[in-house]
Amino acid sequence: MTEKQSFYITTPIYYPSGKLHIGSAYTTIACDVLARYKRMMDYDVFYLTGLDEHGQKIQQKAEEAGITPQTYVDGMAVGVKELWELLDISYDKFIRTTDDYHEEVVAKVFERLLEKGDIYLGEYQGWYSVSDEEYFTESQLAEVYRDEEGKVIGGLAPSGHEVELVSEESYFFKLSKYQKHLEAFFKAHPDFISPNRRMNEMLKNFIEPGLEDLAVSRTTFTWGVPVLSNPKHVVYVWIDALLNYATALGYGQADSSNFDKFWLDQTVTKSWTDEDGKTWDFTVNPEINHMVGKDILRFHSIYWPIILMALDLPLPNRLVAHGWFVMKNGKMSKSKGNVIYPEMLVERFGLDPLRYYLMRSLPVGSDGTFTPEDYVSRINYELANDLGNLLNRTVAMINKYFDGQIPAYKENVTDFDADLAAVVADNIASYHKYMDAVDYPKALEAVWAIISRTNKYIDETAPWVLAKEEGDKEALAAVMAHLAASLRVTAHLIQPFMMETSNAIMEQLGLGASFDLVNLDLAGLPSDVTVVAKGTPIFPRLDMEEEIAYIKSQMKVDEPETDNEWNPEEVELKSSKDEIKFETFDAVEIRVAEVKEVEKVDGSDKLLRFRLDAGDGEDRQILSGIAKFYPNEQELVGQKLQIVANLKPRKMMKKYVSQGMILSAEHDGKLTVLTVDPSVPNGSVIG
Ligand code: ME8
Ligand code: MG
Repeated sequence: MTEKQSFYITTPIYYPSGKLHIGSAYTTIACDVLARYKRMMDYDVFYLTGLDEHGQKIQQKAEEAGITPQTYVDGMAVGVKELWELLDISYDKFIRTTDDYHEEVVAKVFERLLEKGDIYLGEYQGWYSVSDEEYFTESQLAEVYRDEEGKVIGGLAPSGHEVELVSEESYFFKLSKYQKHLEAFFKAHPDFISPNRRMNEMLKNFIEPGLEDLAVSRTTFTWGVPVLSNPKHVVYVWIDALLNYATALGYGQADSSNFDKFWLDQTVTKSWTDEDGKTWDFTVNPEINHMVGKDILRFHSIYWPIILMALDLPLPNRLVAHGWFVMKNGKMSKSKGNVIYPEMLVERFGLDPLRYYLMRSLPVGSDGTFTPEDYVSRINYELANDLGNLLNRTVAMINKYFDGQIPAYKENVTDFDADLAAVVADNIASYHKYMDAVDYPKALEAVWAIISRTNKYIDETAPWVLAKEEGDKEALAAVMAHLAASLRVTAHLIQPFMMETSNAIMEQLGLGASFDLVNLDLAGLPSDVTVVAKGTPIFPRLDMEEEIAYIKSQMKVDEPETDNEWNPEEVELKSSKDEIKFETFDAVEIRVAEVKEVEKVDGSDKLLRFRLDAGDGEDRQILSGIAKFYPNEQELVGQKLQIVANLKPRKMMKKYVSQGMILSAEHDGKLTVLTVDPSVPNGSVIG
């Protein structure tokens, strides 16, 4: 027996800084589909997923919750594993960067790179926001302050907090040393990134302009792997996170059999000769595959190969970068709160529609919009109508005309058999081509081409007419066999995507659960099988309006992000508004805030810029369109006002971040701010 070829597939390790949404579910299901497909194609698959548990954000989340970071991530890990169970994810290992084996190897690798001179101690400089505890580059700032010569001397973080220029001792990874290597690797292995155009994007935008050395340690927080030789530093993000792909297989550990098998065996050499005639050789393992969202492509296409080069390890074959699922108001993200959660969709509609929808509707390499309308209509038309009906009709007809026995498959009996067979064969071939390219929408389109062709075949052959003539018995038998054979093919092809549906089709056809994707064709329909007496619909038809409304009610969609100058006069004041639920009102947090400073905003005759103390321990900035009602705005200093404290911060006048809204009463065409008795403490909740 020849040994099976190995196949290694990884998801990113997600930050457990909040509940995972359908974005993370997308990548995890996409890798699951690939893992299942490759297993069916007889590969020995290792599918890795896990969590990226270190870092400042996690430390903060834990502090907010009043628990240790370890307790926090332990709890999150339980929830994430439950989610993967719900989504039937067939991972082989779940790594957590707080696992001892991982931390030990990260610490050792760091020392090795230090000894090698690839990591050195230097100074990190950046714009630091104390309240966000985060560094920003100049271009990330919401507002910059300049001196007379135009030099940047300060500014505001996107959160609206002041930043200051801070230097911190930090270790750096000498990416610059590997600049040429990486360029040569990209040239030697032009298929490294898919979609391919992103390769050029990385080259032009990041590599060719010159790689800057990367800060790889921090001293401002402690939740990380301490640097062995200098423990006041913890290893910062990427060395820790990226190494998971190797440590999960046993790299640097006593038992490294998986690492040998999935990372070191089966390598090939890729070469490229540069302009000066120098030949660059790279060792690539053709069975290593990473899948990531485009947000972290840079780290995986630049830092990761360089880390591997520095450690003299084979390089991965393929890095698949997919686009984002976005909501109508932009990318879904945990920090933005415009999120749709997979649990709700599974509870309401079942698992297979979710897996189908996610894989079918995100075009390869670009973004796709999640809409409830699209979700419900794909279930109704593509799953219930096209596929579900085909199965129902087939099972019912075989019961009616042949007592449930599927007739033996014979080719070319009716005039339509040859064309059906050709369409099926062509689409099986396209399916494999697209599965290999990880183009699931196209792979599923190929399957649906088979389904529609088969539905059309029923209309063409009109079995109910054939059934009337004894002389057409053979034709009727051929039609039933073709229908069953086509459904069997379909069940095989959708198995990696929709296990339950695939199994149900096989079961209703009396075919059990044996799959052979490698030698799949119509003729493979076994003889002597009996379909079930009464099939149950695999997808019930949904009431579109009701279900769309349901999904919408479960979606938390925030205000659209806006960079536009906000014009308060454009906000229409309605005298009466629609009724709202108590919870909607209760979600609004109104608090007492004292005016510390106020000034007119340059370039606007409507806006005043306030600095207020709302009891959060630091000041807030709010812009309010009341300037013309307070010509002597300084009279407001020291007053206690009412503010909406949990409005999403918004940028105004292109540069100011406003963190809330000041409440005022409208009367006689004027606005008057609502004040509170001076004895009420700042931050008191109104409600
Ligand atoms: O970046 N659409 O973790 P993360 C599609 N810990 N995919 C999405 C998505 C969306 N709207 N939102 C998230 C990290 N994703 C690091 C990774 S790896 C060594 C370290 C998916 O929790 C997508 O795969 O922010 C994206 O790359 C990943 O989640 C980011 O997850
Ligand atoms: Mg992210």
